[in-house]
Amino acid sequence: MSASTPLPRAEDTGERAHAAIPLDQREEWTALREHRERWGSTHLRDLFADDPDRAGRYTLDVGDLHVDYSRNLVTDETLRLLGALASATRVAELRDAMLGGEHVNLTEDRAVLHTALRAPRGEVVRADGHDVVPEVQRVLDRMADFADRVRAREWLGHTGRPVHRIVNIGIGGSDLGPAMAYEALRPHTDRGLEFRFVSNVDGTDLHEALVDADPATTLFVVASKTFTTIETITNATAARSWLLDGLGVKDGDDGAIAKHFVAVSTNGEEVAGFGIDTRNMFEFWDWVGGRYSYDSAIGLSLMVAVGPERFREMLAGFHLMDTHFATAPVERNLPFLLGLLGVWYGNFMGAESHAVLPYSQNMEKFPAYLQQLDMESNGKSVQRDGRPVNWQTGPVVWGTPGTNGQHAYFQLLHQGTRFVPADLIGFANPAPDLPERLVPQHDLLMANLFAQGQALAFGRSAEEVAAEGVAADLVPHRTFEGNRPTTTILADRLSPSVLGQLVALYEHKVFVQGAVWNINSFDQWGVQLGKVLAKRVEPALTEGADVPGLDASTASLVRRYRSMRGR
Ligand code: F6P
Repeated sequence: MSASTPLPRAEDTGERAHAAIPLDQREEWTALREHRERWGSTHLRDLFADDPDRAGRYTLDVGDLHVDYSRNLVTDETLRLLGALASATRVAELRDAMLGGEHVNLTEDRAVLHTALRAPRGEVVRADGHDVVPEVQRVLDRMADFADRVRAREWLGHTGRPVHRIVNIGIGGSDLGPAMAYEALRPHTDRGLEFRFVSNVDGTDLHEALVDADPATTLFVVASKTFTTIETITNATAARSWLLDGLGVKDGDDGAIAKHFVAVSTNGEEVAGFGIDTRNMFEFWDWVGGRYSYDSAIGLSLMVAVGPERFREMLAGFHLMDTHFATAPVERNLPFLLGLLGVWYGNFMGAESHAVLPYSQNMEKFPAYLQQLDMESNGKSVQRDGRPVNWQTGPVVWGTPGTNGQHAYFQLLHQGTRFVPADLIGFANPAPDLPERLVPQHDLLMANLFAQGQALAFGRSAEEVAAEGVAADLVPHRTFEGNRPTTTILADRLSPSVLGQLVALYEHKVFVQGAVWNINSFDQWGVQLGKVLAKRVEPALTEGADVPGLDASTASLVRRYRSMRGR
């Protein structure tokens, strides 16, 4: 759809009634605001003291995830009021519209059907009137065939040697998902193959991926939904030159390219234009958003790493959470719960950000993955019909694995002035291939997770500190106010299925929040302006700052840059 195409009419999508009353004028919103006023400075210590069953009652078990939300600043009344808000804002109806293939992505006039990517064979999911599951399964089967050949060392390069370094070139959703999941599932990967993920247009990124690589055994997976993203095409072009130079073959030798380049895209024309045979292309569809795509063919590198069986286990995990999201009653529905907690904190408690703290080195890239998922989806300030919002929308999402964060920014979480709700994520069992001598460290890792949740919630009062004999003038410095909310997500182990469950959980959480805020979580126009300006600035760097359209500050910086480059 072009930028000038009119949006689908509101009545076509059932939007009108939904949008009629602004969110902040709904009685359910007012009720929550009043509830917040009555909340005062109620402390988690009081909530636990008042309800001895709180720890048991405020948990949810879904699939393999055990979620403890007892250390959140909520009561039964808060949850009831949040549920009423979800019902007033018709979140469940929008969910059903999305799952049913309606064009809920209004500004791009598209269905949003990433859930179809993990629908089991035989299930029917319709987009624009036709069942998409058979195509999804057909591409998965093609991916499996390709992955099996690479894993069996049967995919031979131009010189006849099997490829063993796989370099994924993509950015945003075409990088963060596969790169995150590769790290998460590393213990399940074929360790005889080498994987690199190149995204940045900074040439260093590609250089580091290739510095010790042999062109004869290197395979590039160029992953781009549009196949027009400048970073990806620039890196892929440079990779092609590196390969052809290294192999000593001429550009235009399609035989060499066919053996060393495969593409993942929705855009066959651009793939062919780049010189990749579309027989070496794995497709997906415009109803898959970039940040919701790593379970599509965008996960090809991941499938090569873990094998088709593990990849399908991961899809089954996604599907488990999709089914829960689609069918569980709102009050026992995990994505609803986490989404509504975020609404409570962001819209009524003044939280600006949300920390995701996985106690798992394999989950190192999970927070970065969630940044795109959440912030590109819900970093919006107009409603679905174009009116400005008058309420906060998506939070800043951030985090790093425990225990590293504890020695960096946890000081601020414990004693700073900002209010940062957090998710603590941990696994009862360590990675399956961890050597026996390292296994005991896992208890220490998890002890830290549990301890941090406790310290953040309950703190240490001045009386307790003083009772330990701390000098009076040091007592304020050593007091922890506590009352910092956390949700703990615990699973048996980080299996492919559990990873799928976790990712789907956060996808749907983001959906719930976007629906409450009445924003379109599925477009990303906000990244366009920077792209347009970068194109304008580049000639200024190479040809001089007198390119029209540069503001005074940019022109001055460009002049300084050019002089630093000796131009
Ligand atoms: O950052 C904007 C964006 O469009 C993302 O939504 C997307 O994941 C990324 O660029 C990459 O796009 P593509 O897969 O088309 O190269």
